[in-house]
Amino acid sequence: MSPPISHVLLSLILWVLLQYPIQATQSYIVLLGSHSFGPNPSLVDVESVTNSHYDLLASYVGSTNKAEEAIFYSYNKYINGFAAVLDEDEAANVAKDPNVISIFLNEERKLHTTHSWNFLGLERYGVFPNTSVWRKTMGEDIIIGNVDTGVWPESKSFSDEGMGPIPKRWRGICQTNIHNHDKFQCNRKLIGARYFYKGYEAMTGTKIDPSMLSARDYEGHGSHTLSTAGGNFVRGANAFGFGKGTASGGSPKARVATYKVCWPACYDADILAAIEHAISDGVDVLSMSLGSDSPPEYSHSALSIGSFHAIANGVMVVSSAGNAGPFPGTVSNNEPWVLTVGASTIDRDFASYVTLGNKKILKGASLSKYELPSKKMYPLISAIDAKTKNATALDAPFCMDGTLDPKKVKGKILVCLRGINPRIEKSVVAASVGAVGMILANDRDSGSGILSDPHVLPASHVDFASATYIYNYINHTKSPVAYISKAKTELGVKPAPIMASFSSRGPNLLEPGILKPDVTAPGVDIIAAFSEFISPTNEASNQQITPYITMSGTSMSCPHVAGLVGLLKALHPNWSPAAIKSAIITSATRKDNSKRLIQDSSSVNESTPFDYGGGHIRPNRAMDPGLVYDLNTNDYLNFLCGRGYNSSQLKLFYGKPYTCPKSFNLADFNYPTITITKFGPGYSINVSRIVTNVGAPSIYRVSIEAPPQLIISVEPTKLSFKKRGEKKEFRVTFTLKPQTNKTTDIVFGWLTWINHNHRVKSPIVIYIE
Ligand SMILES: *[C@@H]1O[C@H](CO)[C@@H](O)[C@H](O)[C@H]1NC(C)=O
Ligand SMILES: *[C@@H]1O[C@H](CO)[C@@H](O)[C@H](O)[C@H]1NC(C)=O
Ligand SMILES: *[C@@H]1O[C@H](CO)[C@@H](O)[C@H](O)[C@H]1NC(C)=O
Ligand SMILES: *[C@@H]1O[C@H](CO)[C@@H](O)[C@H](O)[C@H]1NC(C)=O
Ligand SMILES: *[C@@H]1O[C@H](CO)[C@@H](O)[C@H](O)[C@H]1NC(C)=O
Ligand SMILES: *[C@@H]1O[C@H](CO)[C@@H](O)[C@H](O)[C@H]1NC(C)=O
Ligand SMILES: *[C@@H]1O[C@H](CO)[C@@H](O)[C@H](O)[C@H]1NC(C)=O
Repeated sequence: MSPPISHVLLSLILWVLLQYPIQATQSYIVLLGSHSFGPNPSLVDVESVTNSHYDLLASYVGSTNKAEEAIFYSYNKYINGFAAVLDEDEAANVAKDPNVISIFLNEERKLHTTHSWNFLGLERYGVFPNTSVWRKTMGEDIIIGNVDTGVWPESKSFSDEGMGPIPKRWRGICQTNIHNHDKFQCNRKLIGARYFYKGYEAMTGTKIDPSMLSARDYEGHGSHTLSTAGGNFVRGANAFGFGKGTASGGSPKARVATYKVCWPACYDADILAAIEHAISDGVDVLSMSLGSDSPPEYSHSALSIGSFHAIANGVMVVSSAGNAGPFPGTVSNNEPWVLTVGASTIDRDFASYVTLGNKKILKGASLSKYELPSKKMYPLISAIDAKTKNATALDAPFCMDGTLDPKKVKGKILVCLRGINPRIEKSVVAASVGAVGMILANDRDSGSGILSDPHVLPASHVDFASATYIYNYINHTKSPVAYISKAKTELGVKPAPIMASFSSRGPNLLEPGILKPDVTAPGVDIIAAFSEFISPTNEASNQQITPYITMSGTSMSCPHVAGLVGLLKALHPNWSPAAIKSAIITSATRKDNSKRLIQDSSSVNESTPFDYGGGHIRPNRAMDPGLVYDLNTNDYLNFLCGRGYNSSQLKLFYGKPYTCPKSFNLADFNYPTITITKFGPGYSINVSRIVTNVGAPSIYRVSIEAPPQLIISVEPTKLSFKKRGEKKEFRVTFTLKPQTNKTTDIVFGWLTWINHNHRVKSPIVIYIE
């Protein structure tokens, strides 16, 4: 045999051997429909369901014993189905069973932090600066659940100081590992904990170390998000001395519960089990900072089906939009029953200034606790000029490990380009080759979006304009030099908010008729609780263990809104999830603290509702929105009817038989935003909406901001409400102006109902074809 052939054979055999165990651990979610047991199913009911799952699978895997072994979750309370380890043939056969409505692979979902280990945090008052809504209830006794990486239970954010007895309606548990090896304890603040890992083990084929099987957070992400939503007051919280103040969640008097599903990879089968338990435990609000980069059709998505069951049971679901921005069409968690949150900056900077040899001063961001050894200028070098012989010109500018020559870097300030490898890793690489400092330079897409990270050496993250200036300065200077000032906290920064470049954008590719994201909230450099198991830089050599840290991502903005939902729920216990969502969307603002339209850090352009939906959240106004656009479970089912779902597909979402209406017009779906997807010359479209008065008797008048191409009229233009709870319908007519040239375009407008102290504002999106 000639060597090349044996080589080919060997790799082929190896390939088969490596693939085999992966094939064997393929796992699927098999869905049979939904139950209609009500909010608190009996033990007898759920046991009989699980037995029926074993019986069904037994006929495909040979025996009940084998079926019991294969099934690792039986969804038996609201969702009717199971998750099981199956090979492809078994899965194909199960799919043909007449009782099976849907079967799909147990897929991975990602946490929505810009870099999962980069840390996140809770706001020092942040968007809840001493506001009246906040002072009134502080989310008292609302139960907030978090589907994430678990929690650091000893964090002061989860102290139960000042908390009364646990609400009687709570049915959850505090799950610990067998000998409670890691001493996990709940209290009157952290009232519940569960962990779900079988879907992770089945899909990855790896066993989690039994001593780590716990709801304890070994990553930091879950502690950060949960403390942002419902953490208690903590005086003097800070990240390495920065941003010192009183930390607290949006709903500081809420009870919290953790549902750990991320290890740190998160799988659908575990997420679905977590949602089912959260509903049955009695959670009021679910915060889910995770999702898919390309969300599947609702009927094939565990997240969509799970969140529908939550909403149908009165549990509000808040999700992150994703971190795939600034590119259009990247928004995830696109369900109309979910509240989807983009991310933007706050009025606080951790500023670090770069001074160049030509006296130019550029403002950057950093959370590095380190300072240059002396107050003098240091030689400045671009990573591309410091590359090793074997490194490529594509890798070196990013300061990838192994691409830089220590001889060229030693004692200098190194300029690294943003992208490819994690931001903090760049500073670790820079330090390892002897740099005294680092400038992290934005690329064009990242624009003006800069982040404050706990770098391991003096560092400053600069925007694209400054980056271009610095690269130019280096190119045109014989001996370039620079100085980096130690970072310091600056408050009252203007303008703020600015849309974060990473925040995922509309349009909603799955259903363009529903605007997503719904709102934006703080998600850049947020300080909140962290895990004390690891350092935020994930470097063994860098012992930066800290109870509080900044993190950035829509993962961080999502729990801000979950905290706000807690406040509103405590204030208005009878409002539906849709009413709370409407209050948050229609009271949001599209202006920044300079009274200008919110800017986008990815470009010089203004942002649009594709970036922020209704705008930036305003908790005080959301408390008293005046009018709400309400929706109930039937409306959401009608929405699914409109997508052509038949009765068996509807069963995935709802336990009782449901008959679709004869016709469904998505334009009339009572969402608090209006989107018209097909509009052209000669078209005239009517849209109807119903508003419910949630304030005092009052008269509202309409105000329209139409894009130049359109005439928008509303009938009636005045709504008179005699009592609270009264509903009124209105119609909006859209007509294209005759002189408009026939080009495809997406244009925006606003419809606002106004009385003496309310502005109920809805964005309008029109696709002209
Ligand atoms: C919060 O508001 C109240 C009433 O307006 C005021 O008395 C108090 O000083 C404020 N607290 C802070 C921390 O700003
Ligand atoms: C270049 O060579 C050095 C020394 O052999 C090695 O440590 C480094 O990883 C290499 N880098 C690349 C990008 O291949
Ligand atoms: C600096 O010089 C390098 C190589 O000469 C070039 O590739 C790069 O575009 C220049 N950068 C700027 C900002 O002028
Ligand atoms: C900014 O807006 C202009 C005009 O609408 C458009 O041509 C341009 O592509 C936009 N730039 C970016 C980066 O989105
Ligand atoms: C419902 O639709 C699905 C997907 O199109 C199809 O596979 C299924 O057979 C349909 N079921 C019924 C009862 O029509
Ligand atoms: C829209 O409503 C107006 C007034 O109610 C009516 O005259 C018109 O025919 C409607 N247009 C369409 C396209 O339904
Ligand atoms: C339509 O196109 C013509 C010719 O290209 C141009 O002069 C006019 O300004 C355009 N009108 C609008 C409303 O864009």
